[in-house]
Amino acid sequence: MRAAVFENYGSPDVLVIRNVAKPTPKHNQILIRVHASAVNSADWRLRKPDPWGVRLFLGLRRPRIKILGGVFSGTVEAVGSSVTRFRAGDRIFGSTGLKFGAYADFLCLPENATVVKFSDRISFGNAAALSFGYLTVCHYLRKAQVSRGQHLMVYGASGSVGTAAVQMAKYLGAKVTAVTSAANTELMRSLGADRTLDYAGTDFKNDLTQYDVVFDAVGKTPWRDHLHRVKSRGALILVASGALRSLYLPCLQFMFRPRLIAGVITEKVTDLELVRDLAESKQIQPVIDKIFTLEEIAAAHRYVELGHKRGNVILQISDTE
Ligand SMILES: NC(=O)c1ccc[n+]([C@@H]2O[C@H](COP(=O)([O-])OP(=O)(O)OC[C@H]3O[C@@H](n4cnc5c(N)ncnc54)[C@H](OP(=O)(O)O)[C@@H]3O)[C@@H](O)[C@H]2O)c1
Repeated sequence: MRAAVFENYGSPDVLVIRNVAKPTPKHNQILIRVHASAVNSADWRLRKPDPWGVRLFLGLRRPRIKILGGVFSGTVEAVGSSVTRFRAGDRIFGSTGLKFGAYADFLCLPENATVVKFSDRISFGNAAALSFGYLTVCHYLRKAQVSRGQHLMVYGASGSVGTAAVQMAKYLGAKVTAVTSAANTELMRSLGADRTLDYAGTDFKNDLTQYDVVFDAVGKTPWRDHLHRVKSRGALILVASGALRSLYLPCLQFMFRPRLIAGVITEKVTDLELVRDLAESKQIQPVIDKIFTLEEIAAAHRYVELGHKRGNVILQISDTE
């Protein structure tokens, strides 16, 4: 099968297309024919790696995992002898978790992975964009107990996590102020944002609104700068706080009034089922910026690493729609 392989850390050019052995499912695994994956912000960080500490998890000198790709959509090709949740032919999408491997024609995952079936009301391309940002957002909105009528500010609302945050907060009945560059104002309106602010403009700097929840989706501004915008009984969500800060922030909580919420997310099948149902009923619609083929993987990484994609970048692996 074809796969985008990386033997060494480095620039996007370390990703090369190779023919590698097709995996065989164990008794509790499903073999998936991958139709689409997505290139997310996490992918280029692992490839570089950035931060350096990624090496402690992925391999000090060389990556132990040779095929990246953390999300996918596809069809079940075969199932192991003890699998009961899926059968051959099912359309599925989800996250590979720490196994990665979705930049390839085939992938094996345990049947209890964060994976759900979906109908042909969602295309394979769109389905590949329903895991990364939305699973992240479901985790954090639950932690912050976001509810109807609350006012939420999404800072950095135009990326994969941000566009999902705007849509899921609207679904929960919150009022949403989206902070993006001026170029993304229209996109925010189309996603249902009630107010938009330009992060480079004076409206944002002079904004005195007290929010129930501030959801910083990109971590491009010092987290302390958000504190004065959050009500004292509110919550400050720091999606991109990094591993180190996620460890020490909870220890500093006693010094700050708004609740600080950071750390690595827990992926839940029930969250993915909700996202699937909302996408099938067109209550949410993933934002797709660009589509690359598997052979264009280096170009896709180069583009995503610029840090200005709108929503999601899809990697089309087979021709099926
Ligand atoms: N904690 C976790 O478990 C977890 C899970 C998933 C993701 N993350 C982290 O979440 C972060 C966001 O991920 P993502 O995939 O959504 O990123 P992304 O899609 O690459 O973000 C790109 C967006 O960021 C915006 N942006 C760039 N500079 C900005 C600034 N100074 N102010 C406001 N917006 C700015 C860009 O808008 P403009 O072009 O208009 O500037 C662009 O639309 C990443 O750091 C990722 O590592 C953490």
